[in-house]
Amino acid sequence: MRRPLSVVEPLRIGSLELSLPLVLAPMAGYTDSTFRTICLERGCGLVFTELVSSEGIVRDNTRTLNYLSTQPGERPIAAHIYGSDPEVMARAARRVEMLGRFDLIDINAGCPVPKIVRKGSGVALMRDPYRLREIVHAVVSAVSLPVTVKTRSGISPDNANISQVARAIEEGGASAIFLHARLASSVHSGPADLDVLCRVKAEVSIPVIGNGGITNAQNALFMLKETGVDGIMVGRAAIGNPWVFAEIAAELTHNKYHPPGARDWVNAMTRHLRGLYTAMSHENNQRKRPRPYPERAACNRFRGHLTKYLRHAGCPARARRALLEQEEVEPLLRLVRKALQSPHFDEHRKQ
Ligand SMILES: Cc1cc2nc3c(=O)[nH]c(=O)nc-3n(C[C@H](O)[C@H](O)[C@H](O)COP(=O)(O)O)c2cc1C
Repeated sequence: MRRPLSVVEPLRIGSLELSLPLVLAPMAGYTDSTFRTICLERGCGLVFTELVSSEGIVRDNTRTLNYLSTQPGERPIAAHIYGSDPEVMARAARRVEMLGRFDLIDINAGCPVPKIVRKGSGVALMRDPYRLREIVHAVVSAVSLPVTVKTRSGISPDNANISQVARAIEEGGASAIFLHARLASSVHSGPADLDVLCRVKAEVSIPVIGNGGITNAQNALFMLKETGVDGIMVGRAAIGNPWVFAEIAAELTHNKYHPPGARDWVNAMTRHLRGLYTAMSHENNQRKRPRPYPERAACNRFRGHLTKYLRHAGCPARARRALLEQEEVEPLLRLVRKALQSPHFDEHRKQ
């Protein structure tokens, strides 16, 4: 099923058309709204919310509904929901559709986190393809938005039933499968299994979007060419480097990629941290017992991104340490500017 890749076709997921088949993976704790917007502006074709509980949505839980907050222009976007009860999932999906700011509903059937699996959700749905089909069917019947499923190549080496699961997803009426080509038992480590992507692509007629281990344009193109998947989804490689989408998009469209300079890194970090702080302050104000130090909480949450941004931007390790200890937004951003905007920084990076 290998094919030459000369022209990139738009990716059609039901009624939704993405001009480039490039997707940002959902990553709990990382894919906040500002970060998603930054990725969309750099060539990413579709973003996902963080994982949202269907039970929380139907109960109108404020914290759950905050996960469905988006920024104006943050499109196309998938609402990424989990649950195990077809009726609750259908009601939650209808509620999401009524918000009028989502382009598709994605069902999680791949999360291995114990508190999700214990409730029969996430990757537990792979154990029961019949139930998964029922859930997909219930959600598809409840909404007019396209419905997709994000899943894995299997639960463990002796329980790798993705072919059965993929058929159940298709029979349920889903418009595409996002396939993380690693077993749940491997979590996120080891190489992606390209043979599984190739096989599933041959077994179903809905689009398959491959995921796992993509870090640059070369391995993105390799996955597309070797497996014939219809699109690719990038996870950890986008953290601290949203330009990975610009790099892949340039390769797919035969354009030249222009790497970011120091000013671009500073602008992205500034926008990201300020956006995160604004969103977290808003959430904090809704709490019964607001956190005493919301600024510290925002800096803590940003730290995972900051480490990666600084590394990608070429900031020397000794300068990074002081930045990572900062717990106030504007002083931290002043240090970022100082570290990255010395007149010789770009020159130094080229060497
Ligand atoms: C911190 C973190 C959080 C994640 N959260 C989710 C999630 O909520 N839902 C989901 O389907 N996958 C989640 N994933 C898995 C990613 O979506 C993706 O499938 C995985 O990272 C493999 O892609 P990569 O090798 O490009 O990182 C998460 C991964 C990471 C690293």
